[in-house]
Amino acid sequence: MSVDKRVLLIVSGGIAAYKSLDLVRNLKNAGIAIRCILTPGGAQFVTTLSLATLSGDNVYEDLFSVTDQGGIGHIELSRDAGLLVVAPATADIIAKMRAGMADDLATAVLLATDKPVLIAPAMNIRMWEHEATQENLAVLKARGVNVIGPEEGDMACGEYGMGRMSEPDALTNAIKNLFQGTNNRDTAINCKRNQKLAGKKALVTSGPTHEPLDPVRYIANRSSGRQGHAIAAALAQQGADTVMISGPTNLSNPIGVTVHRVGSAVEMFEACKRELPADIVVCAAAVADWRALHPTDEKIKKNGMVPTLELTENPDILSSLSQSKSNRPRLIVGFAAETGSVVDKALDKLARKKCDWMIANDVSVGTKTFGGANNTVHIVDQNGIENWPEMSKESIGQRLADRIADHLNTNHD
Ligand code: C5P
Repeated sequence: MSVDKRVLLIVSGGIAAYKSLDLVRNLKNAGIAIRCILTPGGAQFVTTLSLATLSGDNVYEDLFSVTDQGGIGHIELSRDAGLLVVAPATADIIAKMRAGMADDLATAVLLATDKPVLIAPAMNIRMWEHEATQENLAVLKARGVNVIGPEEGDMACGEYGMGRMSEPDALTNAIKNLFQGTNNRDTAINCKRNQKLAGKKALVTSGPTHEPLDPVRYIANRSSGRQGHAIAAALAQQGADTVMISGPTNLSNPIGVTVHRVGSAVEMFEACKRELPADIVVCAAAVADWRALHPTDEKIKKNGMVPTLELTENPDILSSLSQSKSNRPRLIVGFAAETGSVVDKALDKLARKKCDWMIANDVSVGTKTFGGANNTVHIVDQNGIENWPEMSKESIGQRLADRIADHLNTNHD
């Protein structure tokens, strides 16, 4: 197998290390060869034997042991791999990477490598939120290190918040994408050059919202989140500090994007407000227009009567951010998913919501826009209408990120 399809996985010391065993299995199933380095901390959570058995290779642990390394030094370990993955990446190893320390095998390999690196942070929420960790992360990102996660949820320490390591499936997808990216120089995910949005903060909404009627039922729509996720990924690739507020989707988190998952429109709005100020906002979510006025805590029972559903309007996130008096983001982009006369409707919506650009797309039956891989869009702004040909949602994301960067870099205000 070529070096391009080999992962060197560094398992450092966190409870999430148990997930790295599934990751090894997933990668093997996907035809990606894997070799592991286990740090002393990692060895407190998983055993050398499990990693060796699942990877089908030696596990490397000691910087100075010739026998342990089976004759392979830290330089060779990196040379033999196409990608280095640190999962879990503890606050400690992240700090060491930032500082350029090399006092054990894992950190020596990370300092010596010229290969792309992906890290999957996992730690307690307070360690994650600590200025030191956030500053270390920002430096690593600026150096071109790819970051996936962490996710929000229950933590082993009994707390709730950001800090859970991304799931093995999401990591596997990210690794496959990185291999694809490094094979295709134009879309290389880890590519640091041409990062035209470095220093800018971008906020993206994506996916549908779920509006509860009772604990089991909700109002939803057919949005898959693919377009919004692709836009967030492209903005992050261009160097923007990108936060995505996503409704419920089956997609994995894009690399380099901080993701907050929400359910309803009200939750999405609150999460957006918490992320301000931002330079760029792209509202790609298909936010439900209405929610139930009185969602019930108990499941609504069938009792021979058809219940009447009383609805109330949801906050319009795009409109509200566009018309905010203070802290208005410099560039706000909305989507007009319409059926028939899409451009006219987008023009009308641009004027009503007061955003800067409106992206019109046709979601009529048969267009496969919702859930499909491709999209055909028209960019409507005060200068006119730009018609883009049909292309993949990823390409639309990249072209949009380019257009945003060119706009911000030529219109300084
Ligand atoms: O009014 P309509 O839903 O068609 O507007 C679409 C645009 O407005 C999208 O950019 C969508 O993300 C945004 N929107 C919003 N909050 C709502 C409704 C729509 O941000 N409640």
